[in-house]
Amino acid sequence: MSSQPVRSEDARAEHALPLKVAVILVAAGIGVRLDAGIPKAFAPLCGESLLTHALRGVFGCAEVEHVVVVAPVSHVGQCWAAADVLGEHSRVDVVAGGADRSASVEVGLGALRPGDGIILVHDVARCLAPSDLFARVIGAVRAGHSAVVPGLPVTDTVKVVDAQGRVLGTADRESLRAIQTPQGFLREVLEQAHAGAASATDDAGLVERIGGHVHVVDGDHRAMKITTPADLAVATALLQDGPYAG
Ligand code: C5P
Repeated sequence: MSSQPVRSEDARAEHALPLKVAVILVAAGIGVRLDAGIPKAFAPLCGESLLTHALRGVFGCAEVEHVVVVAPVSHVGQCWAAADVLGEHSRVDVVAGGADRSASVEVGLGALRPGDGIILVHDVARCLAPSDLFARVIGAVRAGHSAVVPGLPVTDTVKVVDAQGRVLGTADRESLRAIQTPQGFLREVLEQAHAGAASATDDAGLVERIGGHVHVVDGDHRAMKITTPADLAVATALLQDGPYAG
């Protein structure tokens, strides 16, 4: 682990703004809990794969210039096909993923192009994240935050419990946020975080571990994570029901 805390001002000072924006779209998960019989990225949602929905949301943000799709090893060609259907071959690279999410992000980091300066990491499982959420995260990075996550207020009461089921404490709900993707970073900060820390369930967690500051912006209910068949039903309703879709 690095002993040097992240200096976002140093990282920014090395670049003249505006920095180019790239998205690492991690899509290499099997999706065991969804149990679709194919990798989750290719599960159908209202007639299109989660990957196609996710790519449309990403490219709906005009600032995105490059997308690295981190694919299941068995589905690299199908990821290229999804990009081609959207007419996005030149702005896409496809690489085969790693053993866990963090390893897949690291593979994606290796496929960035030289000019990529602001990096958003996004889960294909949050395939309905709207384009304006990408723009909000990018805007916060451009405004000076070197690590940015979208978050929503928590409606459940959250308790810490031990392995025996004993409650150890109750979190103050007012200070809790449910964190989503896309998460945005200055490239140097994300690279330093992945070089210096072990695996984590999100990239901002790695930045926290090396002493970096993480800023929260408003999340969006459409950026829900599709994990189970019930989540897929909710996502279908989000796409089909006017009041929630917009
Ligand atoms: O497993 P989990 O649902 O937390 O995965 C979150 C995201 O990470 C998904 O978009 C999944 O495709 C991706 N992932 C990956 N490579 C892995 C495991 C998960 O790209 N080995």
